[in-house]
Amino acid sequence: MGLFKSLRCPKCGHEEVSRTVFQCAECRSILEIQIKIDHLIRSDYETMRRSRDRSIWRWFDFFPVEERSSIVSLGEGDTPLIHARRLGEKIGVAKLYLKNDTVLPTGSLKDRSNSVGMSVAREWGVKTAAVMSTGNAAASVAAYAAAAGIESIVMVPKGTAPSKIVQARAYGATVIVVDGDFDNEVAKLYKVALNEFGWYDCLSSNPYRDEGKKSYAYEMADQFDGRVPDWVIHPTAGGTGIYAMWKGYKELLSLGWIERVPKLVAAQSEAAAPIVAAFQKGLVDIEPVIARETVAESIKVGNPVSLGWRALAALRESKGTAVAVTDSEILEAQFLIGRLAGVFAEPAAATSVAATKKLRGRGTIGTDDTVVCNLTGHGLKQPEAIRFSEKEFTPIAPTLEALRSRIS
Ligand SMILES: Cc1ncc(COP(=O)(O)O)c(C=O)c1O
Ligand SMILES: [Zn+2]
Repeated sequence: MGLFKSLRCPKCGHEEVSRTVFQCAECRSILEIQIKIDHLIRSDYETMRRSRDRSIWRWFDFFPVEERSSIVSLGEGDTPLIHARRLGEKIGVAKLYLKNDTVLPTGSLKDRSNSVGMSVAREWGVKTAAVMSTGNAAASVAAYAAAAGIESIVMVPKGTAPSKIVQARAYGATVIVVDGDFDNEVAKLYKVALNEFGWYDCLSSNPYRDEGKKSYAYEMADQFDGRVPDWVIHPTAGGTGIYAMWKGYKELLSLGWIERVPKLVAAQSEAAAPIVAAFQKGLVDIEPVIARETVAESIKVGNPVSLGWRALAALRESKGTAVAVTDSEILEAQFLIGRLAGVFAEPAAATSVAATKKLRGRGTIGTDDTVVCNLTGHGLKQPEAIRFSEKEFTPIAPTLEALRSRIS
């Protein structure tokens, strides 16, 4: 069983006795889960690697869930790590790998978080789970709640891609579309509603759920057979991925299961890049920005209030960096990932490849470096991002002649 030690404040060191409190009583920071792993030995690693269960739950001992019987799993994890040779050749990085999270159960990386978060909810006997979301978290929370037998309520800002709302609805969630902006009106209403109704919070303000993305580190260590990539590039919104991957990598290092850690890179859309801005200014805390419209709608977050500062610290400790990319760079990357690697990623996910291209252009990433780009969401989440010409949809006469003229 996962040996839970305590909940501790990463800012002021306050130790929380209750297990169900998420925020520091002294300074309001999000508490951090401390798990006891120092008893694990090399043979445990080999057992985990060989497990027939290919989900993130192979790494059970690293997660804050008491009993295996509480696990809520849809088979998330062990996503392909693809050596994308043609794409790598195009952008000048021969050892380019794509961590294909588009194949996760609900089509995005959120399943890593929600499998852990919802398992804890089941352990605690939660009745209703809630989340506010730009779309992907809504679908994921809804699916895991359905599997757990827990009610779900999801709040999304107006303008969220209909396909994402439909997905959450299909899993039985109550979907509330709020007339307002994610960082402002939706965030305010969500916070008030959590207090008012006592719902279980599935946002990054829930430290249990934040542990799920540590699984990236465990899976990559396994897939690279103990070697560690030079760079891991993550499309970044709230900062959970960067924060959790770093925690996971440090755990493996402390156990001696890997010999070094990768440099982590946060990739953001230029229209919503508070982490990039704070990184470049050398700040310790994030200064919220007003997010503008961007094709990378899933990572359109201007105020990563819970974990933004933790992600910043992880970028620095890992000697990584933060990069903003434009919508046209994102769409170009999405196109290339599809055409040269055979993966259909949503625009937000393609920021990792766009950022890699930029860093290669600047000489930050070398031609011989090993780079992993996390592809965090499926292209079908936002099909309207793909442009077609009218002609492509105009039917042809059912004749060879017409066919010949169309493909010529
Ligand atoms: C497709 C996609 N990529 C990446 C992220 C990044 O989230 P985080 O920075 O919290 O790991 C999100 C969620 O907001 C997302 O939906
Ligand atoms: Zn504190």
